[in-house]
Amino acid sequence: MEQYIIKGGNPLSGEVEIGGAKNAALAILAAATMTDETVTIDNLPDVRDVKVMLKAMEGIGVIVERLDKHAVKINGSLVQNKSIDFEFMKKIRASYYLLGALLGKYKRADVVLPGGCNIGSRPIDQHIKGFRALGAEVKIEHGLIVTKAERLVGNHIYLDVVTVGATINVMMAAAMADGKTIIENAAKEPHVVDVANFLNSMGANIKGAGTDVIRIRGVEKLHKTEYSVIPDQIEAGTFMFAGAITKGDVLIKNVIPKHLESISAKLIEIGCEVEEFDDAVRVISKGELHHTHVKTLPYPGYPTDMQPQIGVTLALCEGTSIVTESIFENRFKYVDELTRMGANIKVEGNTAIIDGVKNYTGAAINAPDLRAGAALVLAGLAAEGITIVDDIHYIQRGYEDFEVKLQQLGAQIEKVASERDIQKFKLKVG
Ligand code: UD1
Repeated sequence: MEQYIIKGGNPLSGEVEIGGAKNAALAILAAATMTDETVTIDNLPDVRDVKVMLKAMEGIGVIVERLDKHAVKINGSLVQNKSIDFEFMKKIRASYYLLGALLGKYKRADVVLPGGCNIGSRPIDQHIKGFRALGAEVKIEHGLIVTKAERLVGNHIYLDVVTVGATINVMMAAAMADGKTIIENAAKEPHVVDVANFLNSMGANIKGAGTDVIRIRGVEKLHKTEYSVIPDQIEAGTFMFAGAITKGDVLIKNVIPKHLESISAKLIEIGCEVEEFDDAVRVISKGELHHTHVKTLPYPGYPTDMQPQIGVTLALCEGTSIVTESIFENRFKYVDELTRMGANIKVEGNTAIIDGVKNYTGAAINAPDLRAGAALVLAGLAAEGITIVDDIHYIQRGYEDFEVKLQQLGAQIEKVASERDIQKFKLKVG
């Protein structure tokens, strides 16, 4: 079992390069099966979720050719099995994007009900509502979502909640429906826009992605394209907080600063300096940091995937902060672990009341899920002494070479797999 071992206390400084957005990449990979021609996708993050998605796609007959660590060619012309009931699919939530993609292309898809991080109940009623509105029959049978349609017909769909997953899934199916679809109350996240841009580059006709009304005119066929995935907003944000919590000075390169505005705003509120460049942001953190309040919201609000990272930082800020999680109900699982490092946090329902402490002390902790795991690594970087983080497979789902990028910024962190590695690290750091 791999773990991270961290000796905290080093202010991070230097430059870090951000990779492609995991959540955009997963949907784009699914969408790439919607044409029989070969699609080239670049700037894919080399993370576990992407690898699992590619394996799952190969399992249904998609031809995947790895060009390098970050680029693949995808050919979906030989998709045989529109019934996707096997282990790989259960491992990642984004496998449900194959529902929208295959339903759009073949008018039929069966996909096992998705797994993914356990961050709360994750209904798919809005996906189903959207598919039904397009004329598909949707049933849940033996753990599978079974969708089929004689033909898909464009419709006016009002989503009851703002959901990234349903917006993308319905957009994909509607891209190949007959006539015009309007999705109202659509999610506006950067990866929704990226998937729309990708589909348009394949010949789809989608307008308005990035606003809350998306208009889609269905087309009969999609064609080949070459596409580069946008930078990962959440990886970038995580490194911004790594700079902040360690009192560092970090230049985060290959980002779209506009996507980071809600994060930058919070960092400025707590007393950091944030400089914006064309495709980079610099976070400088010196002196005492102050409390603030934050509520997670759909984009352009503060992202739920950045809630643990701000939580661990606020727990070291002067004063009392309130963090409200309004998207998923089970995203405070890092709090118990952080308490073992000395944090003073009380969780009531979807709110965490955080009384800042002066410092953390290193401890042996578990990564409870992807983002909470990354946040606890940040806590370890700021802590006195040694922290060992277990269950880092969660972190590897979404962060490429996390420890290597942190090392390049001066962090004392290593991935270890045995007691001997741990002892070696301890000897090295003194
Ligand atoms: C995606 C991201 C996840 C991120 C989340 C919110 C991927 C693989 N995952 O998840 O990292 O935290 O967006 O930015 O891209 N909901 C319903 N019915 C539905 C669908 C969703 O009620 O049919 C609710 C959910 O319970 C949640 C909210 O809508 O409260 C937002 O969920 P959604 O945006 O769909 O999240 P995911 O796409 O699952």
